[in-house]
Amino acid sequence: MATIKFFSGGNLPLEMHKVRIVQKLTLPPVESRLKAMNEAGNNTFLLQNADVFMDMLTDSGVNAMSDQQLAAMMVSDDSYAGSATYTRLEAKLRELFGMHWVLPAHQGRACENILSQTFVKPGKIVPMNYHFTTTKAHITLNGGVVEEFVKDEGLQVTSDLPFKGDMDIARLEKLVKTKGADNIAFVRVESGTNLIGGQPVSVANLEEIRKVCDKYGLILVLDASLLADNLYFNKTREESCKNLSIREITRRTADLCDIIYFSARKLGCVRGGAICMRSEEIYKRMRGLVPLYEGFLTYGGMSVREIEALTVGLEETMDEDMINQGPQFIAYMVNELVRRGIPVITPAGGLGCHIDAKRFLDHVPPSQYIAGALASAMYIAGGVRGMERGTLSEQRNPDGSEVFSAMELLRLAMPRRVFTLSQVNYAIDRIDWLYQNRRLVGGLVFVEEPEILRFFYGRLKPVSDWQEKLVAKFRADFGDSL
Ligand code: F0G
Repeated sequence: MATIKFFSGGNLPLEMHKVRIVQKLTLPPVESRLKAMNEAGNNTFLLQNADVFMDMLTDSGVNAMSDQQLAAMMVSDDSYAGSATYTRLEAKLRELFGMHWVLPAHQGRACENILSQTFVKPGKIVPMNYHFTTTKAHITLNGGVVEEFVKDEGLQVTSDLPFKGDMDIARLEKLVKTKGADNIAFVRVESGTNLIGGQPVSVANLEEIRKVCDKYGLILVLDASLLADNLYFNKTREESCKNLSIREITRRTADLCDIIYFSARKLGCVRGGAICMRSEEIYKRMRGLVPLYEGFLTYGGMSVREIEALTVGLEETMDEDMINQGPQFIAYMVNELVRRGIPVITPAGGLGCHIDAKRFLDHVPPSQYIAGALASAMYIAGGVRGMERGTLSEQRNPDGSEVFSAMELLRLAMPRRVFTLSQVNYAIDRIDWLYQNRRLVGGLVFVEEPEILRFFYGRLKPVSDWQEKLVAKFRADFGDSL
């Protein structure tokens, strides 16, 4: 990995790419932002992107593509069946992961649907380091139960543990012993563990999980959606990976798994997904679901052009200069916020910067959706759209009671190669202002609450006129600035 030192000292992330296509942005005035936020029911998912200055909602499907990827789209072999483009993707996945059997799907959750329908029966358990929203929804829809075994330190907001996504092996083994291997659908490991702040899993931990799986005859499934970030952290934080290439770390990781699935909206910087596996028997069990839910086996619901670009994107993921951009920008943002005393998840992970809303808004009660309130306030303060990752993103218990999330996070995702450092500095500045004025921010209550995945389209309102007060303070402090 190239290290570029600055004559003036300091440590700035330096982009190893240049911008060749741009999209114009607008920053509506603060009064318009208040109006837009209320029209969106205080749910950042419901904002119109035209009203957003920095879209930090997600890193999914919004990463910048390379010139090589765009060029590849022009030579794709558009056909329903037997597309040469699909054959090239299959060959690339076989080469990188060393798994022969490949199934395409239109995105990550589609892979989860196929996996859950195949393996999860009522009462079956799926142990994992940590759940992702769509993963858990598919498992529970099929009657399964999710058990999380991320190490206790993984849930501590501030830490210097390099691999907070690692699983507690003793607890995993205890579950298998007490419940019996027959009651376990599969073991799932999520690389770059999303909901705890994009925190990586070490190869060493994966090796330990593999041992447990071998001992009890369990299938090990890797969710590789955030693998690119994870590989960067393996390379930079794990001693045993220091002298390995990204390609070698990828292979070492894959060799420990039976099945790898991913959202290509993150891995490969396109829009799609795939499931890779070693076993022909499992492949045949899953295969029938692809034409049913996705599309024929040689496109699986993806646009063929995107498949061609994915093949290039996967190869580019093997380039350290490509995969280091996200984590380095995130580390810059996290360090700058820490320097200002603003509570964030540490160490910096992949995916984005995660603000600890529980400490940021320690006066807002959990029943008023702390992280949701912060997401609403952040948009009003700066036109920056983040995503609530806390109680709002949980599903209620069957008896209707709230599941209070272990963490209340405002996730500010860092789409890869999309923002400039001055835009990141702007976001830091507005977060800093909001932190200084945090006592003005109040909670939210539901106006409309859907039963499933309520965070996507639920609508909320503020508990008081705190948003108007925040806007007035903004005007007082910033004058006529946008
Ligand atoms: N697994 C992980 C770890 C994810 O982060 C996601 C998506 C999925 C599976 C589902 O993939 O969206 O292609 O269906 N994460 C997005 C996010 C939605 O914003 O973090 P998908």
